[in-house]
Amino acid sequence: MIVTLIVARAAAGTPSVEARFDVPFTPGQTVLDGLRYVRTHADPSLAFRYSCINANACKECMMVIDGKVAYACTTRLHEGVQHLAPLPNKRLVSDLVTEIAPPDERLFPRSQ
Ligand code: FES
Repeated sequence: MIVTLIVARAAAGTPSVEARFDVPFTPGQTVLDGLRYVRTHADPSLAFRYSCINANACKECMMVIDGKVAYACTTRLHEGVQHLAPLPNKRLVSDLVTEIAPPDERLFPRSQ
């Protein structure tokens, strides 16, 4: 089975462009599995963040999946097309990565 991931990509302050990636999968695999496949086999520059993988504890993989905010590590891949975008209400860092750390926990002030 194949899923086509349509990923909104951009660097901070630049317009977003859509990138298409065809990903083979077996039922039960997650969007995060698909993104990791893309980074390993198609484009190592694709930016996304994760830490706990399926424990639903770190919240770092949060993004917009098919129009809804969801965790990439718990959302299943399905045959067809899935659209991925960064969180709309957070500062964009790159591609699917947004600034999610509370202001007091950031390494750098917002202007950097
Ligand atoms: S990777 Fe930690 S919640 Fe998804």
